[in-house]
Amino acid sequence: MTLSFSMTQASPETAATPCAVVGVFTDGRLTNAAERIDAASAGAIQRLIRTGDVSGKLGSSWLLHSLTGIAAERVLLVGLGEQAKFDAAAFNRALGEAGRALSNLPIASATCWLTEIDVVGRDAAWIVRTAALAIDHQAYRYTATFKPREKSAKAELASIAFVGEGAGPALQQATAMARGVRLARELGNLPPNICNPEYLATRARAMASEHAGISCEVLEREDMEKLGMGSLLGVARGSANAPKLIVLRWNGGGSAKPYALVGKGITFDSGGLSLKPGAGMEEMKFDMCGAAGMLGTFLAAVELALPLNLVCIAAAVENMPDGNAYRPSDVLTSMSGQTIEVLNTDAEGRLILCDALTYAQTFEPQVIIDAATLTGACVVALGKYASGLMSEDEELAAQLLDAGNRTLDRAWRLPLWSDYQSSLDSAFADVANLGGKYAGAITAACFLSRFTSGYRWAHLDIAGSAWNEGRKGLATGRPVPLLTQYLIDRCA
Ligand code: BES
Ligand code: MN
Ligand code: ZN
Repeated sequence: MTLSFSMTQASPETAATPCAVVGVFTDGRLTNAAERIDAASAGAIQRLIRTGDVSGKLGSSWLLHSLTGIAAERVLLVGLGEQAKFDAAAFNRALGEAGRALSNLPIASATCWLTEIDVVGRDAAWIVRTAALAIDHQAYRYTATFKPREKSAKAELASIAFVGEGAGPALQQATAMARGVRLARELGNLPPNICNPEYLATRARAMASEHAGISCEVLEREDMEKLGMGSLLGVARGSANAPKLIVLRWNGGGSAKPYALVGKGITFDSGGLSLKPGAGMEEMKFDMCGAAGMLGTFLAAVELALPLNLVCIAAAVENMPDGNAYRPSDVLTSMSGQTIEVLNTDAEGRLILCDALTYAQTFEPQVIIDAATLTGACVVALGKYASGLMSEDEELAAQLLDAGNRTLDRAWRLPLWSDYQSSLDSAFADVANLGGKYAGAITAACFLSRFTSGYRWAHLDIAGSAWNEGRKGLATGRPVPLLTQYLIDRCA
């Protein structure tokens, strides 16, 4: 469950809330609401600033209890950093810290005045929506595979009221995006012995039965055989878990051509016979985050009842080695008719996506976007903060970059020039599934481009952005905010 969000015009001194959230900058300057609490409490905040207890550093917060003269049970002071440097990223960071601190308190609700602060270049709707999403992100807890705990008496954060301008559809958008992000995160975090292709199909069917207007079809191995998806089926051969091609449709836009969202759903990537090294292999449960992101985006769009048509295709396959597995040097025939020489069974993402992209074209989409944890090379190039964007369509690329900037779910464009294409030449097939030594993110996209010619298409490589690194790293839910924003913008 996401948090529930509301707007309020409450006063910081008199609001009877379990926690009032206000901000302080590093130069000791207080936000309007913090100022009023300070005045009503005989200078309690200024005193803490003078003693050095409260610095206002961005990313920090301080909890004050039972201030005299204040109705709120607690006041959470959130550091905003230097006022001159306070921008959208700082706002997002400060709200994230507020969400972290609130989620660790034994309270069910809080009232947040940080949404009264101005952020250069962003309007009231952006401020409220960004605040809601930042707090909800921190409130999420992964619990699915822990021993069930006795219900504790401790309250859990369930709702947040924001103070500020009437922000129109901002809260509705925040709720829809938060649900999409949470779905993507939960699917990403679940272990691959639970979240296998069958499980993803079950979740998609459940989504369709819970929401009016969604139709769901799942293509089984035999269906894919009939369609000639030899590339996707090649990857699936080594796994005891049968592949599923999950197709969800939303018809909010009459007879308009749909937007097609295609996601890489490798529920576990062992590398296949080109086996990955053991260290870090557990992270390859996240190799279905492209599919999870597309399912999350689809959910958000449906919850907003966007007036457009959508086809969401999740290619759900497990990449495993066994006696039946596909091999390096195998030649596969894709649904497009192009043959593919397998040079490395660990370059499997492009092999399932090419057939999913060809299948997407049967819906005559106006735009095709895919998201995939496709290459380690993208992580080397861009790290964890930017998703890689590759497209030959200038307008589409600009729209996606803009949507990323506005949601702070940012992408960075890499070139997709034809110069790179020759690295995929093969002596035995139309194309090889492996490029040369360099520019691995780009040559992977080049491979996909061979299966999208004639279409407006963009590829998002989310190998770095889809989850946080380390043993305790969780799925991030990216690129749900970026893509949901992109779709919202298409309805304006
Ligand atoms: N799922 C991986 C890409 C990946 C690696 C994502 C590390 C996140 C972190 C993908 O299937 C893969 O194995 N790619 C290979 C491609 C290579 C064999 C051309 C890679 O990036 O090493
Ligand atoms: Mn791989
Ligand atoms: Zn993979």
